Formats: sequence, C-alpha cells, structure tokens
Amino acid sequence: MLSPYMFDKTIGGFKKRGLYRVLRTCSQFKSSKLVLDGKELINFSSNNYLGLAGDPVLKEAACKAIEKHGCGSTASRLMCGNLALNEELERRIAGFKRTEAALIFSSGYMANIGVISALMGRQDVIFADKYNHASLVDGCILSRAKLIRYPHKDMKYLEQVLKNTGKYGRRLIVTDSVFSMDGDIAPLPEIVKLANTYGCIVMIDDAHATGVLGRTGRGSAEYFGIPEEAVDIHMGTFGKALGSFGAYVAGSKKLREFLINKARSFIFTTALPPSVIGSVIAAISILEMDNTRIKTLNKNADYFRNQLRKKGFNILNTETQIIPLIIGENNKAIQFSKFLMQNGIFAVPIRPPTVPSYTARIRFSITAAHSKEELGYTIEIIKKAGKKFGITQ
Ligand SMILES: Cc1ncc(COP(=O)(O)O)c(C=O)c1O
Repeated sequence: MLSPYMFDKTIGGFKKRGLYRVLRTCSQFKSSKLVLDGKELINFSSNNYLGLAGDPVLKEAACKAIEKHGCGSTASRLMCGNLALNEELERRIAGFKRTEAALIFSSGYMANIGVISALMGRQDVIFADKYNHASLVDGCILSRAKLIRYPHKDMKYLEQVLKNTGKYGRRLIVTDSVFSMDGDIAPLPEIVKLANTYGCIVMIDDAHATGVLGRTGRGSAEYFGIPEEAVDIHMGTFGKALGSFGAYVAGSKKLREFLINKARSFIFTTALPPSVIGSVIAAISILEMDNTRIKTLNKNADYFRNQLRKKGFNILNTETQIIPLIIGENNKAIQFSKFLMQNGIFAVPIRPPTVPSYTARIRFSITAAHSKEELGYTIEIIKKAGKKFGITQ
C-alpha cells in the first residue's frame, strides 16, 4: 500500500534543501506581462521569445483549423490522425530548415526520447554534453546505449573520448545548440568536424535556437553558416519562439521513414490537434516573411546582457536571450526571486537538479515583446536586489 509517510519524507527533504516546487496559477494577457494572484508582472520566465503566442495571425489560423477539422485529431498519425495539414506543416518545416524532410512530434520531450531510443541500442555509444536538456538525457538512458557525458562544451575532452572509444556499433554526438539554463551556444563547427573525423552521427536540439539563431531564425546551422546536411538530425520545438506547441525532427527522407516506423513516442500517441498545427504554419509564414522580431529580440537581449555584465553580475557565458543570473544558494535564489516579484517582475529561481549544485540562479528569458522601459526598470530593480542579497557591491 502507498504510505503517506513516503510522500512526507520526500517532500520534507525537498523543503529542507530549498528544492521544494510549487505550481503558480498565471493568466497571460499580454506577451511581455502576466497576471499572478491579481497582480500584473513583467514576465521574464516565458520562452515566448518572439511574442508570437498571442499573435492575432496565429490565433486566427488556430480558429480556422478548428472550424475545418474540429478540436482533436482523434487518433495517432498511423491510425486516422494524419491530416493533410500535418504533412503541409512537415513540408513547411523541411523548407524552413532546408532539409529533405521533417517529421512532427507531439512535444520536444517526445521527439528527443523517440529519436534517440529509435536510433541507438545496447551495442551503440552516445557522446552527450553534460548540460544537455533532461529530455536528451532521458532519450539516451532509454536507448540503453553506452552514455559518455563530456564536460560542457569541452571539445578536447570529446576528441579524447572519441579516440579512445572503439568497438561500438553506431556513434552519436548529441547536444543542445542553445543551452537552456546557461544561454551559451554549442561549438557546432567543431562538433561537425569531430563527427566527420570519428564517424559519428550528429544530432542537435535547436529548441531555444529555432526562430532565434541565424539571420532568419533557421537555427544553429544558419547561425554558424554550416550546410544543413552536415548535421544529420535537427530537432526543434514549436512551444518556444514559434508560440505554439509540439516539435519537429528535420533531416533526410530516410530518417523520416525510419522514425515513422521505429520511434515509439511518434507511433503510440495521439497526433497534435489541428489548431496547433494551423498556428505553427502561421508562425513559419511570419518568420519567412520578415525578421523584424528576431532583430528586436537580439537588440533586447544584447542590451540586458551588457547592462548586467557592466554592473558586475555573473551571467556566465551567455550569448543569447537566455540570461542566467547566478546566485549560488537555493534559498537565496528563492528570496531574490521574491524580491523581484514584490517589485513587479516575474523571474523564477532555477535550482538543482535542473542546474549544478551551488549554482542556483534566476533565469531571465528576454523576448522581442519586452519594451525598453520594462528592461531598463528591471535592470534597476536587479541592481537593488544585488546589493540587498550581497551578490554585487
Ligand atoms: C533544450 C530543450 N529541449 C527539449 C525541450 C522539450 O520541449 P517541449 O517543451 O516541447 O517538450 C526543452 C524544453 O522544454 C528544451 O529546453
């Protein structure tokens, strides 16, 4: 029998170590703001990087898809859940990513566990950045392949282990492109070079790069000027910059065919609802037409990073819209976040196991929707908080 004591012990432990988590009930009505307990706050915790989640064009596309196809897809893709709309989105993604083909998944988590566990098995070996997203880690574990985690972005170490690891079947290097809690970017050119030298498949997770990196938001390959085909598997999500929900895997036609037949998280789940697909197609159309939002996002993120660095805050080596303000202790990070909230700013503390011990942080997520005034005001409050909590002088 399930004992309540078991829960109390675990939850009590979380509370003692400052790792207890609670759900907050939010309502979001403007792209840069949310309402929490009746109070309007500037929101720095959403991944709505381009402010598209509330865009009227996306909303209209979602409503039209509902009118035409109803609310649910009614079954998995392989049963009767495969509308022409799904395939249209896959063609649009392939065009956007400049790959032969694409396959959509119900979420980024499902894409990552599905792809890695389909492709890799006991006889294979995976080389993974230590800071990879949990969904990639879970995919690696699920595959039962030998997992070698290399220190964050350490290419010398990676080359060493690639040299010394023989006698395996397939070899895969997998990495986030933009690291979700640190905001820095994986050295994709070096990774591709090592993969070519040591016969590895390359998979990149562009969850925080899609719609963001590169002149037209096509992701990390565009950012580095690498031909798309140099990366075997491009994965990205629709739930962040594209303002909706779901994920894609882009690559060769053969990869798509293989995943349709082998990826369990694709096969054994209900297809995405038509409204979601309609809204993502609209988001891709917006991106293909104009990159103004991307430029604004970059300008906002550059400003915020520069200001914090100038004031002496430790924001690691972030180069993107994800800006981690390092606090250290878990409870101090919670108090810091509370202080921000009292001053009208919503930015949640991120604690272990999401990030390494003693690196609890406030993760600021900058968007194109933030105004200069909102960013300037937030910097002033952070300065005050920095002094109050002894983070800066
Ligand atoms: C790097 C990365 N990969 C994958 C995911 C999972 O995507 P989804 O939220 O669509 O499941 C996330 C975030 O949620 C992420 O940050």
